[in-house]
Amino acid sequence: MTCPAPPHHIAIVMDGNGRWATRRFLPRVAGHRQGVESLRRCVRACVARGVRVLTVFAFSSENWSRPKDEVSGLMELMALALGREVPRLRDDGVRLYFVGDRAALSDRIASGLAQAEAATAGNDKLLLNVCFNYGGRWDITQAAARLAQKNEPITEASLGRALALAHVPDPDLFIRTGGEQRISNFLLWQSAYSEFVFSDRLWPEFDEAALDDAIDAFHKRERRFGQTSAQVAGADGLTTA
Ligand code: FPP
Repeated sequence: MTCPAPPHHIAIVMDGNGRWATRRFLPRVAGHRQGVESLRRCVRACVARGVRVLTVFAFSSENWSRPKDEVSGLMELMALALGREVPRLRDDGVRLYFVGDRAALSDRIASGLAQAEAATAGNDKLLLNVCFNYGGRWDITQAAARLAQKNEPITEASLGRALALAHVPDPDLFIRTGGEQRISNFLLWQSAYSEFVFSDRLWPEFDEAALDDAIDAFHKRERRFGQTSAQVAGADGLTTA
C-alpha cells in the first residue's frame, strides 16, 4: 500500500498554552515556554513526514492587548528562542521566515528576526513561517495599500502577490489546537480552500501522534475547490488540468 503524500503546507494556530500553565498553577508564560518545546517537536515531525511548509501563529496583532507582563514575556521568549533555536533549525535544514508587521517591534527583536532569516536562508528541507505581530486583516490591508500607492489595479492575482505569504502556496491543512473552533484573524485570505482540523489537545500537548491524526483526517477529505465530486473524480470528463 502506498502512503498518500503529506500536505505540502500546514498552518497551525497554537492555542492552549495559557490553560496548560494555569492547570499546573504556573504563570501563563510558562505555557508559552512549553509551547516553544512543542513547536520544536512539531517542526521535526513535519520534516520527517515530508511537509514542505509550516506556518504558525506565534503573536497576533490583537495579542498586544494581553496583560503587559504576558506581552513582555512573549517578546522575551522570542528573543530567547531566537538565540537557542536558530542554530538547531539551521542544522535541521529548516529555513525561517517571519511574517507580520515589524515596525512595532523593538530593534532587538526586529534585528534578531532578520539575522535568523539570513542564518537559515540556504536551507530547503522545510520553510517555517512564523507569524509574529500578524493578522489576516493587517495583511490584506497592507497589500491593498501597497497596490494603491503604486496605482496598480486591485485584482485577485495582484492582491495575492502583495500579501505577506505570497512566497508560498496556500495552506492545505489548517490546524487549531486548544478546543476552540475559530480562525482568530489568521490567514483569512490564504485559508479559503484549506481543510480545517480542530484538536482538543492544548498546544504544549500536541505531539507527533496528534499531528498524524490531523494528517489522517486531511487525507480523508475530498478537496473540490468549487467543483462537484464527479468532476474531481474525473467521472464526467469535465475535469480540467
Ligand atoms: C495561544 O495560546 C498562544 C499564543 C498567543 C502564543 C503562541 C506562542 C508559542 C507557541 C510560542 C512560540 C512563540 C514565540 C514567541 C517564540 P493562549 O495563550 O491563548 O492559550 P489559552 O487559550 O489557553 O489562554
